[in-house]
Amino acid sequence: MPFRSSFDCLWCGRSWSVRDPDDLEGWAQLCADCVGRADDNDFVRYRVRAALAERGRDTQSATPSGKGAGHDNPDLSGHDEMVAYYEARASEYDDWYLRRGRYERGPLHDVAWAAELDEAGRWLDGLPISGEIVELAAGTGWWSPLLAAKGELSLYDAAPAPLDRARERLVAHRLRAHLHVRDAWAEPDRQVDAVFCGFWLSHVPRSRLAGFLGIVRRWLKPGGVFAFIDSRSDPQSSAIDHRPVRDQETMTRRLDDGREFTIPKVYYEPHELEEALAAAGFESSRVATTARFFLLGQAGAPESEGRPVSGSRPNGLG
Ligand SMILES: C[S@@+](CC[C@H](N)C(=O)[O-])C[C@H]1O[C@@H](n2cnc3c(N)ncnc32)[C@H](O)[C@@H]1O
Repeated sequence: MPFRSSFDCLWCGRSWSVRDPDDLEGWAQLCADCVGRADDNDFVRYRVRAALAERGRDTQSATPSGKGAGHDNPDLSGHDEMVAYYEARASEYDDWYLRRGRYERGPLHDVAWAAELDEAGRWLDGLPISGEIVELAAGTGWWSPLLAAKGELSLYDAAPAPLDRARERLVAHRLRAHLHVRDAWAEPDRQVDAVFCGFWLSHVPRSRLAGFLGIVRRWLKPGGVFAFIDSRSDPQSSAIDHRPVRDQETMTRRLDDGREFTIPKVYYEPHELEEALAAAGFESSRVATTARFFLLGQAGAPESEGRPVSGSRPNGLG
């Protein structure tokens, strides 16, 4: 991010002005109080680390050996890099849904995409979802109005900027929901009737899928519903300049301004997910597909709890 002398703090939202043009707050776009929370807050820690790197680069760029600004991301863990990517991509995220800009693939493709997206929406709308609903990694809230019309929706994401878009979308639909920055890997703080994830499971590495499905189970009341929509592997689903999957579990993504980020991206097969859902203790799991682009998954938490959900609790990312 560029240095700013006045800004609204990315974490708490309060207006802040720096005292010195070299203040870290101006690079992190965090107020001094929030910078002080770096020890116990993943997002703040990422912003402070990135700000230190950006400030350092700015000093270097005056010399001929300075690297090109914006293309060399600080050394981030996969988690931080993914949150940073979606934070930076918030304003262009919906171009993917709307097949605009680098996601436009010609009229035939774009019509097929829109038809399948519509099919996914009708599928989600037809599910028996009601009561208290949690949407994890909700992003810009593409699916949130549909969910907010079905019950009391809480939508969570680790990055604040996409949530701002989701808030605007809900306001435009005159719908209410609870929006909070929250890590999808955090343990549930209550049990709810339904959990939805859009295009999130494909960011969960295979090695952590059982752990994440265990979290979803712990979110759900007996008889609760888990629903998800996700990506199938199709060469035209992503942007024209997104490089193919390197090792089947990561992808390098580029923003309109050229910045690059490498993030986890796993194209699960329906049977893999059905098996993982069954192993996590879900019942009646079914993962269908649209013709080319999407996975449509649903599963139920058992009406009465038998043995505890297998699979260890997550470690590391939360
Ligand atoms: C592919 S987008 C999906 C957004 C939305 N669910 C949709 O269907 O359009 C993935 C989202 O996951 C969020 N994210 C990344 N890491 C996260 C984490 N650890 N916890 C919660 N959200 C996270 C990103 O900020 C981004 O909004």
